[in-house]
Amino acid sequence: MTLLEIFPSLRSGMPSRLDSAVWPRETHYDDAGRITIGGVALADIADQYGTPTYVLDEDEVRERCRAYRKAFPEAEIIYAAKALMIRAVADWVTQEGLSVDVCSGGELAIALSAGVDPKRIIMHGNGKSFDELEAALAAGIGRIVVDSLAEITLLSALATREQKVLLRLTPGIDVHGHPAVRTGVTDQKFGFPIDSEAATEAVARILRQPRLKLVGFHCHLGSQINDPDYYGEAVRRMIAEMARVRVEHGVILTDLDLGGGHAVAYRGGDPAMNLTDLSAIIEDALDSACARWHFPRPSIALEPGRAIVARAGVTLYRVLGVKHIDGGHTYVTVDGGMSDNPRVALYGAQYSVVVANRHPTGMQMTVNVAGRFCESGDILATDVQLPIDLRPGEVLAMPCTGAYHHSLASAYNSVGRPPIVAVRHGQCRELVRRETTADLLSRDIGW
Ligand SMILES: Cc1ncc(COP(=O)(O)O)c(C=O)c1O
Repeated sequence: MTLLEIFPSLRSGMPSRLDSAVWPRETHYDDAGRITIGGVALADIADQYGTPTYVLDEDEVRERCRAYRKAFPEAEIIYAAKALMIRAVADWVTQEGLSVDVCSGGELAIALSAGVDPKRIIMHGNGKSFDELEAALAAGIGRIVVDSLAEITLLSALATREQKVLLRLTPGIDVHGHPAVRTGVTDQKFGFPIDSEAATEAVARILRQPRLKLVGFHCHLGSQINDPDYYGEAVRRMIAEMARVRVEHGVILTDLDLGGGHAVAYRGGDPAMNLTDLSAIIEDALDSACARWHFPRPSIALEPGRAIVARAGVTLYRVLGVKHIDGGHTYVTVDGGMSDNPRVALYGAQYSVVVANRHPTGMQMTVNVAGRFCESGDILATDVQLPIDLRPGEVLAMPCTGAYHHSLASAYNSVGRPPIVAVRHGQCRELVRRETTADLLSRDIGW
């Protein structure tokens, strides 16, 4: 009896090459067959910093910022910090000419401590607290995106000088993404439905406040959107609403922020947003909508988060064991899981994974990569191909994990969060250290 007959999940096939759509540009195999990013072997990073570890390619982040600035030379590109907010990233993106969007006091504090010019910070959130608004006003941030009537009252009471605000509208566009991240539709917690009485009331209230200056509208359609036409439609609807404000209040709004949500490929073959197409569609929609309503062209802002950092990130795991279930799957257990990558459990996200410490050339098997956490749903990747002779101790690398991984991570099962290690020009440096058991114990002060 052959191994394949005993374990049908084992399959032969050539290992797939590293797909440039999901790996950082500077990903290669070195002479020893190991994967390198930014000139550093991932296996060496695993040895030096342990696993799991998030690796972040600085040049890839910078390159994505430049791609946006090139595709949208006249627009303001605002990095959505929720995707990954650490000081180094705030520093890189602002050096590349981007502004920063924050949605909490914590993100604001990180941006300020990284030296981001407060005028280039914009604050979001459907539930900003008193303290957060106070901190934003005290810092003198550029714009606050108003999300509720209560917030208008609070802001006008707190503001001691003029504060620019945008009003968040939901343009009634369903991008058919995962329900948890579909934010352009009317019936949801963010913003005010476009063309609604509530939106009219919000505009009127802001305009009545002497210290609040309504400069424009904001909308965010959702996540992982690869069809640029949705943004064209959003432009048309938002310009119509801006024209309505001009008629009703005699005020010309100058800013239109179209949010983020541009899709990236998590696995080879996944659709991604084409920035050239998106730019052309936004331009056309602006031309036609502004002509239709005889409305002056507003300044456009875009807020990509994922599309800036996702592909720059790779997570390293070490194999703890390989388990073949009779008549079932083969499970490769690794030392991370849903606490460092909750996107699989949250959204059913799918990833690819490869062995990083050698270039596999032999037979492969089809496996599920299982996390170490105490839920049977803690599976990081399903039906992926890994070498048939994979052994405990080998290093696996999961690409496209730079966005909404570290920022969504938890310390589930009291396992500390992984470090972030940046790579560039053959060097690596730790940006965020691993959360230790001592860190966890230090917060547990009540016994
Ligand atoms: C208001 C706003 N802007 C921008 C973003 C960034 O989205 P993405 O990372 O998908 O580009 C989000 C994500 O939730 C958001 O809520």
